[in-house]
Order: sequence, then C-alpha cells, then structure tokens
Amino acid sequence: MARRVAVVPGDGIGREVIPAAVRVIGGLGLGLEFDVVAAGAERFLATGQALSDDEFGRLTDADAILLGAIGDPRVTDPAYTAQTLGRIRGELDLYANVRPARLLDQRLSPLRDPGRRPVDLVVVRENTEGLYTSLGGRLRPGTPAETALQQHISTYHGVSRVIAHAFSIARTEVVMAGKANAMPHAGALWQRCWDEARAAHPGVPARQLAIDACALHMITDPPRFDVIVAENCFGDILSDIAAGLAGGLGLAPSANLNPGTGRGMFEPVHGSAPDIAGTGAANPVAAIRTGALMLAHLGFPAEAEALEAAAADAVRCRECTPDAGGSLSTGQATAAVARRLG
Ligand code: NAI
Ligand code: MG
Repeated sequence: MARRVAVVPGDGIGREVIPAAVRVIGGLGLGLEFDVVAAGAERFLATGQALSDDEFGRLTDADAILLGAIGDPRVTDPAYTAQTLGRIRGELDLYANVRPARLLDQRLSPLRDPGRRPVDLVVVRENTEGLYTSLGGRLRPGTPAETALQQHISTYHGVSRVIAHAFSIARTEVVMAGKANAMPHAGALWQRCWDEARAAHPGVPARQLAIDACALHMITDPPRFDVIVAENCFGDILSDIAAGLAGGLGLAPSANLNPGTGRGMFEPVHGSAPDIAGTGAANPVAAIRTGALMLAHLGFPAEAEALEAAAADAVRCRECTPDAGGSLSTGQATAAVARRLG
C-alpha cells in the first residue's frame, strides 16, 4: 500500500517551501500519496478553529506529517498554536525533536578560523515538557502586584526516554546540557536519568556541560560536538545556534519523533517568516532537507541521502536563494535541486 504523507503547509513561507519540497520528493517516484490539510491562521481568524477533528484524524492516520510553519502576526491567541503544533506534538507524543546541523559549504560558516568549521552535529530537544507546557498562571494581572508563574516540568519518563534517544543516534559522543546548579530539582532528575543512560551505554563517550558553557563551546569549537541533548527551551535555543553555525535558518531541517511508536512530524526549524512571505525569497532547502529526514524515517534511506546530496550540491554551486549567497527565487532554487536528481 502507498505510504501516505499528511502535508500541512501552514502559514507564510510554509505555503511556499512545503509545496516546493513536495514537488521534489514527488519527482523521486516513490509512490507516496500526499494529503494536503489546509489548516492555518486564515481559518483560525475566520472560525476560531485552525484544525478540525476530522483533519486531525487524517494527520494521525498518515505514515508521516510534513509541516511548514505555524505563526501569523495577526494571531496573538495562544490557542492557535495549541490547536495545531501543540496538539500534534502532544497527542502523538512526539518527544524527541531531532535537529541536525551540517555545514554544506565552507563559505556559509560565520567562523573566521577554518579549523572550527566542520559543523556536523545534532541537537535532540525534549519536545513535550520542560518550560513549554503552559503550566502556570498569572495572579493579579494588570496590577502592580502582578505575578506570573511559568513552570518547568521534568518527568522521569520524559527525560529518560529523550536521553535514551540521544544515545541511540550518537556517532562519537553525547553531551547533556543543563543548569543543575541553578535548577537543582530538575537537575537532580536529569542527573539520575543521565547516570542510568551512561550505565546502559558504557561504550559511548559522554560528557555534561552547563547550558551557557555549551552555547559558548558550540561557537568556539563546533567540530567537537556530535549529539547534544537538552530540555525543551534549552534545546530550542541551542538548535538556533546550530542553525546559525551551519549557514542559517533557510537550511535547517528538523524531525519530531516518537521512537517508541514510530510516529513522526517533520518541519523545518524556521517559522513563517512574514518579512519575506510572498517575495519569492524563501529558501526551500530547509524544507527539502526536512523531506530527506522524512524519507529516511519512511524507509527510503538511499533516496533520503540523494535528496540531501542534491540540496547540498545546489547550495555549494550557489544555485540557491539570497540568504545562502545565491540569487535564485524559491521556484528556481527548487528546480536546481530537482535537476540534480535527474
Ligand atoms: P522565522 O524563522 O520565521 O524567521 C526568522 C528570520 O529568518 C527572518 O528574517 C526570516 O526571513 C528568515 N528566514 C526564516 N526562514 C527562512 C527561509 N526558509 N529562507 C530565507 N530566510 C528565512 O522566525 P520569526 O520571525 O521569529 O517568526 C515568524 C513566525 O513564525 C512567528 O509567528 C513565530 O511564532 C512562527 N514560528 C513558527 C515555528 C513553527 O511553526 N515551528 C518556528 C518558529 C517560529
Ligand atoms: Mg526555535
């Protein structure tokens, strides 16, 4: 039976780069069926519901979900993200947000010293708890006594499984980045899970870094890093640093996975980029490389590698959009990748 991919272009440049990625993947002739779900800000503004239950069912029934970006300057209601990204990540329990960063071409590195440039690392961001659950509240809002509680959650279940995933994909080393001295309660729980994972993987080199030191070392000595695991907010920030080291958001892919159930939702690291939406300047490479992660997940490792290699070659030849040093439009940059695939 054909594998079915549920596609949610979403908002802004998501509606430009996702069709581009689908065009390239479709050209590989893998018999994938693409089911486009038109959830987004437009509909949320009109009806208050961004994604119907029926559409959500199409997402959960699919073999994989390919998503663009959720976010529109006109929408400030947190219900919008909760109904879309939050619901998909939450109900499918996509606990590992895997964000690889590999420098495709030397000239894209912001690092002066060539010896620091071989960037090829993966940030594994815990994706279901940490600081991003919306747990908390506001007391006496609007008064001088206004008090906000934004709570951090770490569970033994959640932390041990994401650390286990980091160990499972390590090539040379795992780093755990945290802040145990300033967050001793969560720190102790992460430490317990870390010690257990290390005992279970005695052959994998592993070290701990404070989150701030990790951010610094990623810039001063990026070749040193392989896999970095961190709680949700820390991982969010570190993965943007990694994207910057590897040439920018226009190139950065990501996968939201539940390695236990095999479910996955694939989305570029970038958002809807309202500043360039509709101008033809959106780089499709992040979405295309995200498609490569999806193909590997769906059981097409050779095609995934070919897609990644084609995207890398197009960028190296500067057949890409201006953010990566080229002068092509989204459509032309997409064609440059497709052409390399024959
Ligand atoms: P953003 O990632 O959309 O844009 C940041 C900067 O990078 C902008 O200057 C943009 O033009 C540039 N950029 C991003 N992707 C690019 C691409 N493919 N090609 C060329 N340039 C690119 O982040 P921002 O501006 O903070 O957020 C915009 C909206 O997106 C917000 O509503 C935000 O909440 C949402 N967002 C959604 C995410 C998601 O759906 N997972 C992730 C991040 C932001
Ligand atoms: Mg982010």
